[in-house]
Amino acid sequence: PPQDVTTQRLPPDAGGLRAAARLLREGRLVAFPTETVYGLGADAGDGRAVAGIYAAKGRPSFNPLIVHVPDAEAAARIAEVPDRAADLMTAFWPGPLTLVLRAREEAGISPLVQAGLPTVALRAPAHPLARHLLREVGRPLAAPSANPSGRVSPTTADHVMAGLSGRIAAVLDGGPCPVGVESTILALDPAPRLLRAGGLPVEALEEALGQRIAWDTDPARVAAPGQMASHYAPQGAVRLNALAPEPGEVMLGFGAVAGELTLSASGDLQEAAANLFGCLHRLDAMGADRIAVAPIPETGLGQAINDRLRRAAAPRHEGLA
Ligand code: TXA
Ligand code: MG
Repeated sequence: PPQDVTTQRLPPDAGGLRAAARLLREGRLVAFPTETVYGLGADAGDGRAVAGIYAAKGRPSFNPLIVHVPDAEAAARIAEVPDRAADLMTAFWPGPLTLVLRAREEAGISPLVQAGLPTVALRAPAHPLARHLLREVGRPLAAPSANPSGRVSPTTADHVMAGLSGRIAAVLDGGPCPVGVESTILALDPAPRLLRAGGLPVEALEEALGQRIAWDTDPARVAAPGQMASHYAPQGAVRLNALAPEPGEVMLGFGAVAGELTLSASGDLQEAAANLFGCLHRLDAMGADRIAVAPIPETGLGQAINDRLRRAAAPRHEGLA
């Protein structure tokens, strides 16, 4: 059940890290910054703690969690790592790439993390606070994005507090997340498949693997909440590819298309990704009930930005979100 506690805000120093690590080892929930978004962490080997993540987020228990590890060696203790996966870890870890691999049975990960799947999603985050925390806890951390299920992911400690205050023990405040969209998720078995566009552009993966990567089209997986259309939703209705606002709309600009808020006035995709969720949170705070969004190019980080915007604009499934 939700923990119903006073949520501590911990500073990004040695004391804050020590306190966060102690809470995690006690089976409590602690949100922490990664380079992509804030994660809601729990000891991945502690079934009660992992169950607490699902409860605090209101997340359906059939939607599995990402396990965060310090490096490729730690990953190899949890999953089978084929050569192709090892090469990707060498090239892109630590960083915004999550790999879905076949789980080892003796790995000591709570079965709740995998939600019944034979695979486990693994990522080594690059954020220095996340890396320090993983080292200090000494255990893999299950951590989905630290937002109520179906809502916009948090890129500041304030976003975490707005969504989960009173339901988690603490948030380690590391300031804004530099990448701003969640990790790219890649499955490798039998062939590489993109499960989620994210902070690592798919072009970089295609170059490293020397092949084109297709989106996963497995209908069972596409139906899972993480891939569900209405995920990442702000409160207001969203209209995409708008060149100007209609009466009653708040305009979110990009490049030459100006707005009350802009993702990047200079048309820079990296800046736009870093600003995306903050803008959506601000639109929520403004009470915007109709939002128009400028067109974003579909290259590099633009793929992840457009993916999140399409989900934000999709019809809502409140019961499942
Ligand atoms: O950047 C990120 O990945 C952030 C930070 C905190 O690391 N985490 C994150 O977690 O975005 P979450 O739970 O919001 O998204 C995890 C996604 C979900 O869509 C889930 O369905 C998918 O990963 N996933 C987890 N395990 C999986 C598995 N074994 N097979 C397929 N998809 C999996
Ligand atoms: Mg999420």
